[in-house]
Amino acid sequence: MNPSFAGTKSERDLYDLVEAFFRTSFATDNALITEAVRRMLAAGGKRLRPRLLLLAAEANGADARDHLPLAAYMELIHVGTLIHDDVVDAAQTRRGVNATAVDFGNRVSVLAGDYLFAWIFKNVTANYAPPIPNILAAALADITDGEVLQHRAVGKLDLSLADYVEIAVKKTATLFAASAECGAIMSGGSPLRTRALRDFGMYYGIAFQMLDDLLDFTASEAELGKPVGADLREHKMTVPLILALESADPSLRASLMRFYTGEPGANSLESSARMVAAVGGAGGFSRTREAIAGYVESAKTSLAPLGTAPARAELVALAEGLARDSAARAR
Ligand code: IPE
Ligand code: IPE
Ligand code: MG
Ligand code: MG
Repeated sequence: MNPSFAGTKSERDLYDLVEAFFRTSFATDNALITEAVRRMLAAGGKRLRPRLLLLAAEANGADARDHLPLAAYMELIHVGTLIHDDVVDAAQTRRGVNATAVDFGNRVSVLAGDYLFAWIFKNVTANYAPPIPNILAAALADITDGEVLQHRAVGKLDLSLADYVEIAVKKTATLFAASAECGAIMSGGSPLRTRALRDFGMYYGIAFQMLDDLLDFTASEAELGKPVGADLREHKMTVPLILALESADPSLRASLMRFYTGEPGANSLESSARMVAAVGGAGGFSRTREAIAGYVESAKTSLAPLGTAPARAELVALAEGLARDSAARAR
């Protein structure tokens, strides 16, 4: 093991490694698409999927530097889905800068995402043995499936929590699970440890999407680098809303019905602010915090087979960060 990775190395090291890899190694054969993707990479982002892959590899005693290309492909799948997601959600801002569609248009955005996915799979199938390419392909299919399911659930105030979780698993958690699983496989992890890491990624990913939904209600655009209140405006069914509707308040359902009838985006800022207050008042935020805490616990518990690997503590800290952030947003 490289000495710089021994013991209590900071998470920052992994972030820097991924950044350096992108700066020196990312280019496709299409100049316009390379520019659009580099712009997204340079704008920031938390790099959570590559971090998870590298931590999973380290949990089996591997050197993170040996797995940077695959970690980078995970981030690039994520970037491609964000470029497309902002077209689908008509979002103007991403990572604190204009969404790709704002600067390059919807046509180039759709084509750039398509090209990026094909480019990733061309490289991954050429360089990695099964089951790695299959895991990545299945994750991307799930993300798109989840985005379609979510689109079809727009405005459906009776969407169940189970149906919501299925969407969150597909559109978000599967890529975290795939990242952790691939890190485990590439580092020669036993089936038990690989399963543990995949489960961690899945539970972490569900909690992560729930926090993202909560932040859409309670954070500011300056903090997130992307629009807030967008889910309500687009009549999306997200977890704070679903859990608020579980409360026995019939007036909340009636006012949400009024809000969610008609064209998405048609409501005034003032009526949106009233909806946010109503969802919070009906316990939507505190129940979301509790749901996140539950998935964070499951994520931590699933790591038991890792024993005392130092990366386990970092994975636990990552999960606990979600619980802490949600507690700060929903007292
Ligand atoms: C945003 O993901 C999309 C969701 C799954 C909610 P991130 O919050 O990880 O976005 P970046 O990579 O930090 O920009
Ligand atoms: C997650 O959903 C997006 C993807 C999985 C691509 P959201 O629509 O909630 O993500 P944000 O809020 O735009 O980042
Ligand atoms: Mg979106
Ligand atoms: Mg969101």
